[in-house]
Amino acid sequence: MTHAAKVLVINGSYRDDGITDQVVAAAVEALNGAGAETEIVNLRDYPIEFCLNCRECTQQPGAAPGTCVLDDGMHELIDKIETSQAYILASPTNFSSVTALFKRFMERLVAYAYWPWDNPYPKSRKTETPRKKALLISSSAAPSWMGRWFYGSGRQLDIAAKTIGAKSVGTLFTGLASAEKHQRLTPKSVARARSLAVRLIEA
Ligand SMILES: Cc1cc2nc3c(=O)[nH]c(=O)nc-3n(C[C@H](O)[C@H](O)[C@H](O)COP(=O)(O)O)c2cc1C
Repeated sequence: MTHAAKVLVINGSYRDDGITDQVVAAAVEALNGAGAETEIVNLRDYPIEFCLNCRECTQQPGAAPGTCVLDDGMHELIDKIETSQAYILASPTNFSSVTALFKRFMERLVAYAYWPWDNPYPKSRKTETPRKKALLISSSAAPSWMGRWFYGSGRQLDIAAKTIGAKSVGTLFTGLASAEKHQRLTPKSVARARSLAVRLIEA
């Protein structure tokens, strides 16, 4: 992959400048410094409706994501996903899971499945190899080792990555993220975010 690669960040945090935003900022700064093009989509500012479970998008054959009946920002977001070479998928851990904001986005990724009514299960439209790359970012009040082992957020982010045709190159799970109202990321976490991010654009 060349350094002109475009890296799309999809961030499911509710807060400006919380721990998730800070990890994302460190990663993006490293990527920009390495010559990558980056774009951040903060889902909290992005107009996406809930999936209707109508499955219209899943009836359409072909390798391209199906077209949703809803007329909202998801069409543009899927274009951004399709034209990016790598991703950062980020969400705090709330009630052991990605945020509702991230989950709402994730359910709309059903457009990446071919699932006609007479098929008992969905088939991924993203079968090509090599897969694109994704860095997964989450955080929790609990220590990071607990978050990694006991929460669903890491696994959910991985499912979202696979759905859009990407393979995880690493997970950055920041624990003890709720000790202060305006907590700052430690220098060690900043360094880790920077070094993991660069994996996205390595050959
Ligand atoms: C509604 C809610 C639910 C939460 N649930 C959990 C949880 O189940 N486990 C945990 O360790 N932390 C939990 N937390 C703490 C968040 O994970 C933590 O505040 C978050 O990672 C900080 O991300 P941010 O700074 O980007 O907002 C919860 C916080 C909120 C507000």
